[in-house]
Amino acid sequence: MIELNFSNMMTEVLGEKGISERQIEALRDRVDKAHHEIVQKRWAELAFMDLVRQDTGEIRKTAEWVRKNAEDFLIFGIGGSALGPRSILEALSPFHNLKRRPRVFIYDNVDPRTLSAILSLVDVKKSIANVITKSGSTAETMASFMVIWDELSRAMGNDAGGRVIATTDPEKGNLRTIARDKGFRTLSIPPGVVGRYSVLSPVGLLLAEVIGIDAKEMLRGAADINDRCSEPEIWKNPAYLFGTLLYLMDKEEKRNISVMIPYADGLKYLSEWFSQLWAESLGKLGMGMTPYPSLGTVDQHSQLQLWMEGPEDKVFIFMRVLDFGADIRIPEVFKDMEGIGYLGGHLLSELIKAEEESTELALTKNKRPNMTIHVPSLDAYHIGQLFQFFEIATAFTGFLYGVNPFNQPGVEEGKNFTYGMMGKKGFDQRREEVEKAREKKVCYRL
Ligand code: PA5
Repeated sequence: MIELNFSNMMTEVLGEKGISERQIEALRDRVDKAHHEIVQKRWAELAFMDLVRQDTGEIRKTAEWVRKNAEDFLIFGIGGSALGPRSILEALSPFHNLKRRPRVFIYDNVDPRTLSAILSLVDVKKSIANVITKSGSTAETMASFMVIWDELSRAMGNDAGGRVIATTDPEKGNLRTIARDKGFRTLSIPPGVVGRYSVLSPVGLLLAEVIGIDAKEMLRGAADINDRCSEPEIWKNPAYLFGTLLYLMDKEEKRNISVMIPYADGLKYLSEWFSQLWAESLGKLGMGMTPYPSLGTVDQHSQLQLWMEGPEDKVFIFMRVLDFGADIRIPEVFKDMEGIGYLGGHLLSELIKAEEESTELALTKNKRPNMTIHVPSLDAYHIGQLFQFFEIATAFTGFLYGVNPFNQPGVEEGKNFTYGMMGKKGFDQRREEVEKAREKKVCYRL
């Protein structure tokens, strides 16, 4: 089971820069209220918590078909529809494309250079495309899907539909309509589950099964942490403590940047996934915390100086992996060289753990609040736990802030301007606004 060590957030360790038990107790009513929002399922979007009980039969069958019929598996999606699958791939099958088939390409942007490169590397006739979009209308996803669909249709004529899997809403949206019309295989994202909370739905689980990861094991991990995090008593609930401590650091100590530092390459993308979850869920009504996805030991040589002596506006979330499942002993070469000889004979896992502990200690000594999530090993069970833990913690923290942790009204404005510029019906006024803005007289430019 993953474990949260939050001693270095508390006054007992940090003195006046820490959080006291009294501050946590003072939030008890709010915590209870947030707990009731969750257990009484007052929001349809809490449906993500029920994913642990889903039947994975259809996902497994579809994955088996992909493994038998594809050399390359192409994922098109953005936001929650891509970051989740990418975190699974990087955590559980690193260097996948160099070792296994089908190779996996996740295209989550509309950068023409990247898609051209992917198209030059794959034979579409031997590929299967998985287009993932809950709404079925996201411009980036649908534009890139339209490119691949056209390629497939040219190459395969009427058989093109047989090489597409649509992961989308069970009833609604353009993609669902196209899928019905063209006879795609489909997997459904349950209605209440929104993008950034969807990794443990077919959004992430199909890829997991395609690359040989047991989806049921991920769900077992998620179910176990669900039980642990359903506990009403805050002192027994790690997700509530995680959220409460960060909330207090923001509101009462003015530390509104959360730096996530996994000491494991495999968790780098999970910390990117967390960044979307945390930022998009909480950044509302002038509130929220800015997440910064980092990586240890790498950022010790890039960011640590700032963290140690820069502005006191950050909280650090370390992730420590206990068993890497592989190890390498540093050979005892250059023994007589004082500056490096001491490294010989030690394990790389020893070094990475020592660096993590040392950074934790150094930050603590400088009164910089930090907490650590202990991850027993990087496997399906614990990755499932991490996803579910952060999702519960984020929804809970949203309720503490008093915001809706499931919507993202702030992204609409930019989307509407894009629609105007790209000629979508009903958005002419936005296009005019863009044109006017371009004509503006104020122009500082070199
Ligand atoms: O969390 C969310 O709901 C969003 O960030 C979505 O993941 C993102 O906008 C993509 O949406 P969709 O899956 O509808 O294409």
